[in-house]
Amino acid sequence: MKKKLNVGIIGYGFMGRAHSNAFRQVNHFFDLEHELVLKVASARNAERLEAFREKAGWEEAETDWRKMIERDDIDIIDIAAPNDWHRDMAIAAAEAGKMIWCEKPLARNGEEGREMVKAVEKAGVRNMVWYNYRRVPAVTLAKMIVDSGRLGKIYHYRANFLQDWTISEDLPQGGEGLWRLDVNAAGSGVTGDLLAHCIDTAIWLNGNITRVTARTETFVKERHHNLTGQVEPVGIDDASMFLCDFANGSLGLFEATRYARGHKALYTLEINGANASIRWDLHDLHRLEYFDHGDESALRGWRSIHITDAGGDHPYMDHWWVPGLQIGYEHSFTHQVADFLSDLETGATTQPDFADALITQDVCDAVISSGQSGHWVEV
Ligand SMILES: NC(=O)c1ccc[n+]([C@@H]2O[C@H](COP(=O)([O-])OP(=O)(O)OC[C@H]3O[C@@H](n4cnc5c(N)ncnc54)[C@H](O)[C@@H]3O)[C@@H](O)[C@H]2O)c1
Repeated sequence: MKKKLNVGIIGYGFMGRAHSNAFRQVNHFFDLEHELVLKVASARNAERLEAFREKAGWEEAETDWRKMIERDDIDIIDIAAPNDWHRDMAIAAAEAGKMIWCEKPLARNGEEGREMVKAVEKAGVRNMVWYNYRRVPAVTLAKMIVDSGRLGKIYHYRANFLQDWTISEDLPQGGEGLWRLDVNAAGSGVTGDLLAHCIDTAIWLNGNITRVTARTETFVKERHHNLTGQVEPVGIDDASMFLCDFANGSLGLFEATRYARGHKALYTLEINGANASIRWDLHDLHRLEYFDHGDESALRGWRSIHITDAGGDHPYMDHWWVPGLQIGYEHSFTHQVADFLSDLETGATTQPDFADALITQDVCDAVISSGQSGHWVEV
């Protein structure tokens, strides 16, 4: 008989749907001591919440997230609401003694993030942040290859996250679906939304970032605000690029924008070592490209490895289909929650936790600060 864990989720948007799917699937594919119960879903709009509750398979709906957090029968609070709510929700959940899963970025800035870290440490509750790309099998394999030392000394780390959905000057800011354009809700623009993913993966694969120099730009200076009804200045960074130093001596180059016409969610990363290089692209997420200078010269070249071996060599894949059949974006969330549940059994810490995500948050803050000052900023 599995031990049941009751989850309460906040938010029925994009991440509300992605998380619900993972919670429903995880016990069907992973052997775990615990079983997740989709107990209560919370958001403010009662009608849409009820539609979500029914479709996503939650038992109950509650429009007041504080009431949900106070319930004795809830074990885990899952925060899938916009960034301006992460701090208050996480602190309330920690004070109520709940385990917490929080969407990225941890908060709008390091100051809020530090309060959140303090709250979970004081309460001694397990916590995790949904930097889900770590659990794409190809990216996890990249980590294993880096840790094996096969790349040799690392010289370069390069990452992009490109989109094109805010180019229209008529697109409003603020309110449902468009909170990402409102700096008060989001904290920053593409830095916290897109680069935060790239930075989390980079630190995981290549170690800490010590200093940054950035160029940020807001291309559309004013937009109609859906909540105030006024045309208001835009406070987010529409594009953000930075150079950085890693503690291991390698150099980093990062770019994110929502103005790269034709690109919808192009997250790419590349690491160049003395002996070998690795390349990955979210649009082809089940493939890892690998170049090994040690290969016989006549046959040397970039290998495109299809990460679908269920024999144990490719991380997570033995939980899915037969070799050769691939999985997708949504599985990264299932893997992350499976790891959390399995760590709960062994007592291990699940990464990234709030403290890890705070390091990423500090790099994001340094990028914004450097973009404003035009100077190098130490992290
Ligand atoms: N891990 C990832 O890859 C990934 C992808 C997208 C978004 N995110 C993060 O997930 C979070 C949510 O983003 P999204 O794309 O799902 O947004 P969304 O706009 O699709 O959904 C947000 C949800 O939060 C609810 N909400 C807003 N304010 C609330 C409040 N005060 N109380 C209760 N509910 C409230 C909304 O009703 C909605 O259900 C953000 O922090 C975002 O950065 C992470």
